[in-house]
Amino acid sequence: MRIGLLGMGTIGSGVYEIVAKRTDMEIARVLDLRRIPGLGGKLTTRFEDILEDPSIDTVVELMGGLEPAHEFVVRALRAGKNVVTANKLMLSHHYAEIAQAAKDSGAAVRVSASVGGGIPYLHNLLRARRVDNILWVGGIVNGTTNLILDTMQTSGAGFDEVLREAQRLGYAEADPSSDIDGIDARSKITISMNVAFGGVADTREVPTEGIRRLTGADVEQFAKLGRVCRFLARAERFADGAVGACVEPVLVEKDAVEAAVRKNDNIISFEGEYVGVQHFFGQGAGKFPTAYAVVEDLRDVMGHPGRSHLRAGEPALKMDNRRATKRYYLRTAAPVEIEAEALGSAGNGAAYLTAPVNTQDMHALAARLRHIDDTTFFAALR
Ligand code: HSE
Repeated sequence: MRIGLLGMGTIGSGVYEIVAKRTDMEIARVLDLRRIPGLGGKLTTRFEDILEDPSIDTVVELMGGLEPAHEFVVRALRAGKNVVTANKLMLSHHYAEIAQAAKDSGAAVRVSASVGGGIPYLHNLLRARRVDNILWVGGIVNGTTNLILDTMQTSGAGFDEVLREAQRLGYAEADPSSDIDGIDARSKITISMNVAFGGVADTREVPTEGIRRLTGADVEQFAKLGRVCRFLARAERFADGAVGACVEPVLVEKDAVEAAVRKNDNIISFEGEYVGVQHFFGQGAGKFPTAYAVVEDLRDVMGHPGRSHLRAGEPALKMDNRRATKRYYLRTAAPVEIEAEALGSAGNGAAYLTAPVNTQDMHALAARLRHIDDTTFFAALR
């Protein structure tokens, strides 16, 4: 296998190092705009040098971002080259088009590293859906935010300090706002529900609330409630085929499985009608765990030519986030316009537990309260 590698960042250099030790595959060209020592004539700034090289059969896309990654992936597939990508943002926006491009040319597209890094989660979800009816998927899908939450709650460290540590360790996205505002988690739950439920969701319809407004005053309230805050993504399918999905901070019981997930680890779970609940735990980010998943996919491309992870021609998933209701922790200085139990003062506002409210209405309420108090924070109770 001769590979064109797009992007020599943290994960790209991990893939380069692993492949360099193998005899069954070779990185023939590397596309990157930076000057990277040691690559000699392999380095190029022109995608066409990879696209038009007939000896390159497979493209590994690790540039991240929407464009030009999306354009390059579609052109590579249309040219009959296999694609392995970890780019969850691009997949969550262009899932159907990429699946179709692969089907049309007979090339394979494999995406294991896009959700859960080195954890063999997507692989097993793909296997499960062949036999089972998947009822829900979800969990802790972002390591950077779990590190922030865990460290803030156990050591009292400040938000910015822990974020810098995640960046130093190479877990955080290039722009960490996609971690802390939940875009990374939203992309991952979109791919997960597409795979689990056999459809294509509009990622922009997933209510998404991040953790950037979390304060030490909130952490004190969580302790009084005997709860632990985790950042969870979840998608479930209702009996009529509609889907509910959201990304939000959640206060879980201290003995919940997610509470035991520490540092930057992930736990991703699904429930099948036959198999029951399965949990997949481990390193969902970082150079070598993610590069490992990419190389696993490369091996599978060799072993099962043309077998893609994405199925073409699947229907749109209908999203409805007004069905399930839950109580929420809410901290704001704005007047609260729904039924809620007061917990006491917290920081510059007051903390409340709301009456049960559906996901869509709660996210909309917080958006309204932020016109008065932009620091308003909320987390679901589970
Ligand atoms: N920034 C992501 C995380 C990387 O922290 O989990 C893996 O997608």
